[in-house]
Amino acid sequence: MFRNISVIGLGKLGYPMAQFLSSSGAKISCYDKNENLVKELKENHGEHLHEIGLNNLVNNNNDLIFRDSIADCIVDTEIIYITVPTPSKLDGSFSNEVIIEILDQVADVILKNKKTYIININSTVQPGSIESEIIPFLESKGLINNKNFYILYNPYFVALGSVIRNLEEPDYLLIGSSSIYAAKKITKFYNSLYKNPKIRLLKFKEAELTKLLVNTYLTTKISYSNFVKSVCKDFDDISDLRVLESVGLDTRIGTKFMLPGGPYSGPCLPRDNLSLKKFCLDNNIQNSFSDEVQKINNDTIENLYKVISQLKNQFKIKSFGFLGLGYKSNTQCFEESYSIKMMKFLESLNIKVFYYDPYLSEKFTATKINSFEELTLKSDIIFLSYVDQHFNPIIQVKHEKNIWDLWYHFSDSKFNRIYHKVSDFKKFQTQTSENDKNVIPLNKKVG
Ligand SMILES: NC(=O)c1ccc[n+]([C@@H]2O[C@H](COP(=O)([O-])OP(=O)(O)OC[C@H]3O[C@@H](n4cnc5c(N)ncnc54)[C@H](O)[C@@H]3O)[C@@H](O)[C@H]2O)c1
Repeated sequence: MFRNISVIGLGKLGYPMAQFLSSSGAKISCYDKNENLVKELKENHGEHLHEIGLNNLVNNNNDLIFRDSIADCIVDTEIIYITVPTPSKLDGSFSNEVIIEILDQVADVILKNKKTYIININSTVQPGSIESEIIPFLESKGLINNKNFYILYNPYFVALGSVIRNLEEPDYLLIGSSSIYAAKKITKFYNSLYKNPKIRLLKFKEAELTKLLVNTYLTTKISYSNFVKSVCKDFDDISDLRVLESVGLDTRIGTKFMLPGGPYSGPCLPRDNLSLKKFCLDNNIQNSFSDEVQKINNDTIENLYKVISQLKNQFKIKSFGFLGLGYKSNTQCFEESYSIKMMKFLESLNIKVFYYDPYLSEKFTATKINSFEELTLKSDIIFLSYVDQHFNPIIQVKHEKNIWDLWYHFSDSKFNRIYHKVSDFKKFQTQTSENDKNVIPLNKKVG
């Protein structure tokens, strides 16, 4: 058990994680170099993150303690969780620069106070980083591995919007270690924090690679689904949704991440794929896999552009409304959002773009609308980027509005003016009357 824990880096993962760790009863000392963020966290307790369940942890009577420096943050703690950015470099690998910057200060404290720490890296790192960069850096400061410091690599598998649930109910805990002492300590801690946790103790490089391979498997599933979507695209008597649902029923495959929809996006999946590619390149491993997965993803975006062009040419649409501009619900993050890419494409075609997004505070070129109702009034087509409670009134306008439900959130049997496929347009042209031209066609029903 740890009684005193430090958390360095209080961003989208670090702050919820610090709050989660506080449920262990340990004293949690926190530090982030962004003073404005810390001020905001002290005032709004992470409200800006929109993470479901965060509030319960905030109110667990074990408040986080904010410190003004790394030295203050770690002075009386036993384990240091480091959750800082590891931005992608141009070659696709992750930079350890921020981690090293922090370790530099941690090393000074170790040298000065003659204290040992377990240093737990939660940031995603390039496979090989711990042994080739992180440990050698600390050794270059005159410290001895597994004597003056103990390193753990312990990335969490979380998705924005469900970070708390993912922290509380992980499928398993992934831990890379080279120290029996540190491995035992963290295992004991997690055994007290979780009920019967599945803990995978691996060597560093195995754990670093596992983290990447989990995410690249997910991108593969998404690209596979979009490949199936392309295969089915031109057949009026094939429903891509039904085909994929059926494929997924095979338990060797599973139904998760098996939807014909949009490209993968967000802060993790796209960059993890590039990182794996770089790892293979560095180690002379033949790998056409990463390129293919990414190519299908790029094609998926291109296909969205093609549909938009068709909407403009055939149906003379003048306005387009996004329900959600970020990449998913319950997050202010919009990294790699395909809706934003589509927004730019629409604007290049001089189509007026509106959006209603209850989470984004950033300014965009499209016009922000403050209610679902207003958005539906202003837009020829409504694009449902993701499902969210704020968009529930969509049920009421399903018969009047043209809704592009990319991810089949509302199945085609429930809605009759939902567009999914280009072939629907062909059908529309032949089946609708002259004065009905601005209506996007009924989605076909198969079987
Ligand atoms: N967000 C996720 O869903 C997620 C999931 C899995 C893994 N990760 C990984 O976790 C790491 C952090 O991701 P994030 O999304 O929380 O990033 P983030 O950008 O939201 O937060 C990082 C925080 O670190 C702080 N920071 C930067 N430099 C610092 C320094 N020198 N000292 C102290 N604090 C510093 C920043 O101010 C920021 O608040 C990344 O490696 C990421 O790949 C994130």
